[in-house]
Amino acid sequence: MRTLITGGAGFIGSNVALELEKQGHEVIVIDDFSTGKKENLKEFKGKVINHDISLSLEIEKIDAVIHEAAITDPRFQDDTIMLKKNLDGFQNVVHLAKKYNAKLVYASSAGVYGNGPVPMKEDQEKDILTAYGKSKLTMDEQAKALAESMHIVGLRYFNVFGPHESGKGRPASMVYHLAKQMLAGKTPRIFKMGEQIRDHIYVKDCVKATLLALDAPSGVYNVGTGIGTSFNKLIEVLNEVLGTDFKPEYFDSPYDMSTYQVNTQADIEKAESKLKFKPDYSLKEAIKEYIGMI
Ligand SMILES: NC(=O)c1ccc[n+]([C@@H]2O[C@H](COP(=O)([O-])OP(=O)(O)OC[C@H]3O[C@@H](n4cnc5c(N)ncnc54)[C@H](O)[C@@H]3O)[C@@H](O)[C@H]2O)c1
Repeated sequence: MRTLITGGAGFIGSNVALELEKQGHEVIVIDDFSTGKKENLKEFKGKVINHDISLSLEIEKIDAVIHEAAITDPRFQDDTIMLKKNLDGFQNVVHLAKKYNAKLVYASSAGVYGNGPVPMKEDQEKDILTAYGKSKLTMDEQAKALAESMHIVGLRYFNVFGPHESGKGRPASMVYHLAKQMLAGKTPRIFKMGEQIRDHIYVKDCVKATLLALDAPSGVYNVGTGIGTSFNKLIEVLNEVLGTDFKPEYFDSPYDMSTYQVNTQADIEKAESKLKFKPDYSLKEAIKEYIGMI
């Protein structure tokens, strides 16, 4: 299979690219390196094209596209640019997949659920808090309209963590930021009062779901573990893995809390039945594996 991975120099994209290549497939990466890093592709043997896919997208025949490229920081400073770049990129990817009758898997986000009820189900009412969430929901709506005419699968990733995320800076996961502080012997700092909840999913499980999506029926699926873990609890798990006893220091959130998701937790029933996806890693097992790579 000849697969194009957009955003393949980024966190999730590079993990997908390396796994697909390991499985013996031909992989082409396209990335504008706006947040992607060359070092994420150190072991990658395939072709890497440096290009902004929101401008145009031409490539020789491919069998599948895995579309990870996007402005991924929900706090990106310009909503208009965010929407335009993410949606133009998506349009160009759809056009390319249609041209070659290729399978298309794209990254949506749990951001579309905002502060809606948990566990979050694919068809529940959406709560759009940011332009980022709006860009992802627009993709999902366009994908729904296209599903009759092509293979198109959207994956609503929850909070992914793991190797290759350091290049993201502030938008990297809480697992990464808290582990970094604790590994440096510093008190982990979290917003008051640490009871914000996230469905933390290890990038290896996220890659597994993404590859399963190539053979799943068109549609939109949650990619999470189904388990919500508070930041306070996450610090406890990090303490257990590191053999430390840090207590969190709480501070006021510098963000506009009306745009902040307080609790995310996936309902994974649809992913289990249609995507055939079940995560392999518990939070603790994943952190144990990841901690030495931070
Ligand atoms: N990491 C998470 O927890 C998470 C959660 C939900 C959804 N997602 C989605 O998953 C996808 C991958 O996210 P990530 O965490 O790996 O982020 P990332 O920022 O590491 O990866 C995005 C990649 O896309 C590239 N890119 C951005 N705009 C581009 C453009 N116009 N043309 C070409 N390349 C471009 C960047 O340089 C980067 O390499 C994104 O679509 C993101 O919205 C991620």
